[in-house]
Amino acid sequence: MKSESEFVGNVSIVGHGFEYAGRVSNEIKKILLEQGIPEGIVRRVAVVIFEVEVNIISYAETGFIRYQVLPDSIIIEAKDKGQGIADIELAQQEGYSTADDKIREMGFGAGMGLANIKKFSDVFEINSEVGKGTYVKSIINIDKKRS
Ligand SMILES: Nc1ncnc2c1ncn2[C@@H]1O[C@H](COP(=O)(O)OP(=O)(O)O)[C@@H](O)[C@H]1O
Ligand SMILES: [Mg+2]
Repeated sequence: MKSESEFVGNVSIVGHGFEYAGRVSNEIKKILLEQGIPEGIVRRVAVVIFEVEVNIISYAETGFIRYQVLPDSIIIEAKDKGQGIADIELAQQEGYSTADDKIREMGFGAGMGLANIKKFSDVFEINSEVGKGTYVKSIINIDKKRS
């Protein structure tokens, strides 16, 4: 990747499409590796995207994920129209989940998604409005010395 280059991707996601869970994160992972982004960074970005992807599928009607590759960081934003989150602090606690049996049967709903996004992000932001939707922003720095 040329150091000055920058690119943006935008993927829309339909709620309840569990058969597609992981597809977006896998695609973006491939693209970033092809662009020469260090593997350790790509792994963190893939976790963040996977978790927001599964959350949109699980708890929203529609949404999109936008990622922006800058010379020194990758910005991931996920925005959905859906049920929203009543208690954002609680939702970020490890193990807290409102996932129903259907979601759990498919192997999701361990309550680690937001906690992991936070852990893997250098900057993490979440906003939500009940009955409207949720916005998550994650910035992962590309530290060329460490990765
Ligand atoms: N996009 C979203 N829309 C509505 N609720 C959400 C969203 N993302 C997370 N939540 C709420 O926060 C809780 C914790 O999310 P997360 O940490 O990803 O764990 P899990 O998805 O396994 O339950 C979810 O159970 C859900 O109640
Ligand atoms: Mg989740």
